[in-house]
Amino acid sequence: MKGDFRRYLAAKESVDDRAFVPGVRRLVRSDLADRPDGVRLLDAGAGTGPFLRRLLAWDAPDLTYVAVDADGVNLERARERVVAAPAAGYAVDADGERAGDFDGPGETVGSLSLTGENAVDVRFVRGDALDAADAGGWDLLVAQAFVDLLDPAGVDRLLDGLVPGGRFYFPITFDGGTAFSPAHDADDAVLSAYHDTMNVGDRLGSRAGRRLERHLDARDVDYVAADADWSVRPVGGGGDEGEADYPADEAYFLRVIVDTVADAVRGRVDEATRRRWHRTRRRELDARQLEFAARNRDVTGIV
Ligand SMILES: C[S@@+](CC[C@H](N)C(=O)[O-])C[C@H]1O[C@@H](n2cnc3c(N)ncnc32)[C@H](O)[C@@H]1O
Repeated sequence: MKGDFRRYLAAKESVDDRAFVPGVRRLVRSDLADRPDGVRLLDAGAGTGPFLRRLLAWDAPDLTYVAVDADGVNLERARERVVAAPAAGYAVDADGERAGDFDGPGETVGSLSLTGENAVDVRFVRGDALDAADAGGWDLLVAQAFVDLLDPAGVDRLLDGLVPGGRFYFPITFDGGTAFSPAHDADDAVLSAYHDTMNVGDRLGSRAGRRLERHLDARDVDYVAADADWSVRPVGGGGDEGEADYPADEAYFLRVIVDTVADAVRGRVDEATRRRWHRTRRRELDARQLEFAARNRDVTGIV
């Protein structure tokens, strides 16, 4: 990924917010509200913690929330953001005293105890999310924008970490279909080479959504899935509104995507074509003309 990854993840949040499938999210939310207190939730590949912040606006039971990421700096950012702007109705103990000891794998790099209508004890753990899943006993397992990095055996490790009747929620699971507009004559070559870079070994990669669903079918898992596509375009610009522009920090999000694609296909696409594509896309972005879409799937089910 080119650029500042933490800023990219923060900029991605408004794009994700438009993409989430409300019906899928409602299922997860009402299931969580129906579970008894003491729910154990694993956020696999938690990044800077967007799911934690969304969850704090839900009616949830008392829960232990373990956010695992391979990168401790992401988790530090996640913790700082909750402390700096706690969700409405919560008091925050920034030392997480109530959370006690955690004996799972990985290194605890921070904890928080939040008290409001419900009590949420949060652990930030630097380590491998699959090792954390292996520890077992999870009631809810969230992996947002993460499953494309796994092979089918990795998906099994996540699912096998759930208690019987436990729920998984895999929102924003990439499923290929990257598209830019206006059209460029090198799009097919560049984008298919870009998708190829994701297909390392048996990773679900560029076709993660459909491969995941086939895998769940083969395991006879009960699930629902729906399109949760990303769409980024300049808005406004009519009448007195001034120039059209990208919302929030989405110009940065799109710049990282464009630079990442151009960088990833180096050596896979004719160099002059690659440079021409990159220059054109950067120019269109600066002129607020570039539009972008990517296909994702929101998937949830019960094991
Ligand atoms: C695309 S980001 C998604 C972050 C977050 N879920 C979101 O939607 O904003 C993927 C995250 O997975 C983390 N990651 C990659 N492999 C991992 C692994 N094996 N165990 C834990 N985290 C991992 C990365 O550090 C990164 O923060």
